[in-house]
Parts: sequence; structure tokens; C-alpha cells
Amino acid sequence: MNQIMRKRTPSTFAIVTFGCQMNARDSEKLVGILEKMGFKETEEEQADIVIYNTCTIRENANQKLYGHLGTLKKRKEKNPDMIIGLCGCMMQKEDTVQYVREKFPFVDLMFGTFNFHRAPVFIERLLNGEKQVMEIWDSPKEHVEHLPERRKYAFKGGVNIMYGCNNFCTYCVVPSVRGRERSRIPEDILMDVRALAEDGVKEIMLLGQNVNSYGVNFMEKEKSEILKSTTGYAFPNLLRDVCRIEGIERVRFMTSHPKDLSEDLIRVVAEEEKVCKHIHLPVQSGSTDVLRRMNRHYTREDYLLLVEKIRKAVPDVSLTTDIMVGFPGETDQDFADTVSLVEQVGYDQAFTFIYSVRSNTPAAEMEQLPADLVSHRFQTLLEVVRRRSTEVTARFTGQVLPVLCEEENRHTPGYMTGKTEHNITVHFPGTPDLLGQIIPVRLDTCKGFYYFGSIMNE
Ligand code: 5AD
Ligand code: SF4
Repeated sequence: MNQIMRKRTPSTFAIVTFGCQMNARDSEKLVGILEKMGFKETEEEQADIVIYNTCTIRENANQKLYGHLGTLKKRKEKNPDMIIGLCGCMMQKEDTVQYVREKFPFVDLMFGTFNFHRAPVFIERLLNGEKQVMEIWDSPKEHVEHLPERRKYAFKGGVNIMYGCNNFCTYCVVPSVRGRERSRIPEDILMDVRALAEDGVKEIMLLGQNVNSYGVNFMEKEKSEILKSTTGYAFPNLLRDVCRIEGIERVRFMTSHPKDLSEDLIRVVAEEEKVCKHIHLPVQSGSTDVLRRMNRHYTREDYLLLVEKIRKAVPDVSLTTDIMVGFPGETDQDFADTVSLVEQVGYDQAFTFIYSVRSNTPAAEMEQLPADLVSHRFQTLLEVVRRRSTEVTARFTGQVLPVLCEEENRHTPGYMTGKTEHNITVHFPGTPDLLGQIIPVRLDTCKGFYYFGSIMNE
């Protein structure tokens, strides 16, 4: 039977974001793109077009998405005209895409991390009657600047300074789903930051998988006057230049790879008032042997020395980290080394993960550990991390610190929630007119990794 496709006439959309800051940033651009096409953003439950911006860093990210797709299937049965799209990191893995196409054939649209700027073309094709559109690139074939965007917050914004990753940690899919590392030229970044400042943004987050290797591989280098006149322009230079922009009051960056964090950078963090005294420094493991097999290019001792240097230069710095448990071949002693490193460093916060096998990564070929052993280690680590970070975070008790008021408290009416420059969350009695303001708040009671506080009048 020849099926005649009815033209669809969607008017609303929702972008649902999974995963990291990179995805969150891409989603802001996708929202901007769809709004420019004339669609209106709405809640997922009501939207005619639903696009999931996916993550695949661990297997549970995949499982979570499949769960959501199961729910969407029922909606689609009731409303066959709705458009269901998938984009982001999961789409860059061939085996996953194949699985999705088999199990969830009702998905209308699939695109990846390198071509989301082409979303209007894809949607037009669907609107013109094509039943399914799939376009996934295996590398960034074109670089598009100045896409429309709609920021989630009025007073803070992320700016990509680089894309991709060249580190090839043996457990990680990022280099394959986000491509090789490439840095944007300083002019483009500074232009973005200036535009945000003019728009009333006070806090900037500079984003890259490894900001400390910013500038090793520039895109469009020939277009940059700054690069012609400065030799060795690197992340510390960029940070200083961003700090010179009027209106910006706080500058953050994420993520730092320990192997590339330079003395220059430590100096900039110490000297520049606008740079938040917080460094996210993923350690992954406290065992030199595991680090070597992870291809991290530093030892336990290198890392501890780096922490010491940072603390010496920036005494009150807050350090956070990512730690993985159950990497192939991790012995009891390796795990004990991780626990002792956590005790020794005293992180403000540590994000802990159970190692998850990713296909086509070197670690997937190594001999895996039994799940119950890993889960036991994970619980042990979690307890140490919780206790230690509570002790460390409590050091601010009684201090009055500037807090950027970010949102109304979701649980307690009459309370607002904000962040200190150390990235510590503070809940305090206040009103929504404070949103986006940096105000002095006394940190009264430490509740683990957050505080209750009270506004102080200057
Ligand atoms: N399994 C578990 N955790 C992972 N991460 C990256 N890849 C994996 C994996 N295969 C963690 C690392 C990284 C954070 C973003 O996610 O700790 O720093
Ligand atoms: Fe993955 Fe390592 Fe690159 Fe981070 S530095 S994105 S963990 S490969």
C-alpha cells in the first residue's frame, strides 16, 4: 500500500538534556535554533517536537535514555504527528545507533554532536513528509560560529573555549564522540563573553574537556590578530583577558586535567580577583599503577604535589574531583590508595563513579572485576568522601561570603539558593528580587556539602 504522508504542523518543542556542561551548552544553542525557526519552547509532556540531547559516558546514561524512550512510545502512539528526535553523544556510537533503530523505530530524527547546527534542515525535511531523518557525521566537517542560543540563566553563562579531547584515557568515549581537540580563537571567545556581559551576565564558565591544553590546536588560527601578536597564547592568557571584560564579576572554568595544569595558571587563579577559587581536578584513582593503565600521564605523587602547589598559592581554594572505582585490574591495595588520597587531599566535593565498560575503548578489552566487589568498594568510598568533604566544607562556618543568588529554593518557600565562589551551595531566607545579585551571606550551619545561611547587611 502506498502511504501518503500527511504534513506535520508542530508548534512547540522541548529539548531534554542529559549529561555534562557541554551538552547543556549545546542544548542552549538548539533551543535558540528552534526558536528562530518559529517554534515555542514548552514542557516535554506538551511538546510537539521532543529532542533528547543524549549522554553515553556510562552505560547507565544509555539505560536511562531507553527508559524515557519507552515512555515516549506511548505518547507517540496517541499522537503520531509528534516528532521524536535524538542527538548528542550517544548518536556518535554506531552500535548504539543500530540498537536504537532496532528497538525504537518510532524515533523520527537522529543527529550527532558535530552537526546540530543543521537541525533546521532536518526538521524541514520531516515537515515536508520524510518519515525518518538521520544524519550523523564522524568528524567536525564544518565549524559554525554565532549560532542563536537561549541561555538557561540570565546572570550566568557558559562559553565553549574548545571542543573534543585528545587524551584518550583508556576508559573514556569522549574522544570518539566529541572528536579531536580544537580550540576557538581568543577573539571569538572574548566576543561571546563581551556579548554576555552586555546582556547582564555576571558569571562566566569557560568550558572544555581539558581547558589546560587550550591553544595547542587552534581552529582558524589565521583569522586571529591576537595570536599573530602573542607567542604561546594559552589558557592563562585567555583567563586574564576574560577577567578584563567589564561587567563580568566571576570567572569559572571546567575541566582541568592534572597533567596540564601549569604554574602560570595557578598564578592567574591566585592573582585575578574575578577567577573563582575553585578547581575541579579529576584524579580518577589514587593508585599510580591504575593511573598508568588509565593513560592519565601523572602519578599519585605528581597529583599530590600539584595539590600542594595550588594550596600554597591559593590558600582557601576549593578542590573538587571525579573518582572512578572498579577500573579493570584494580586491586585491594589500589583501592586503598584511592581512599587514602581522598583522606589526604580533603576535597570539598568528589563525584564518584563505578567504572562502566564502553565499547571500542582499550579498557573494555581488559579483564573486568566482579560487580559485587566493585559495588562494595563504591559504598566504602562514598562514606569516606561524604565524611571528609563535610569536614572540609565546614571550614567556612561563621564566615560572611559573597553569594550569587541563583534560584528560589525548591523545597523551602521563602528561601533562595546561591553559590559562593568556592562553588558551595547556600540556602538562605530571601526573596526572588535577589536573583542574579551577588550578596553577602553568613554561612551559619554546614549540612555536608551545603550550608544554611543568612543575608548580612553591608
Ligand atoms: N566509567 C565510569 N566513569 C567514567 N567517567 C568517564 N568515563 C567513564 C567510564 N567509562 C567519569 C570520569 C570523568 C567523568 C566526567 O566521568 O571520572 O572525569
Ligand atoms: Fe575522557 Fe580523559 Fe578526555 Fe576527560 S581527559 S574527556 S576522561 S579522555
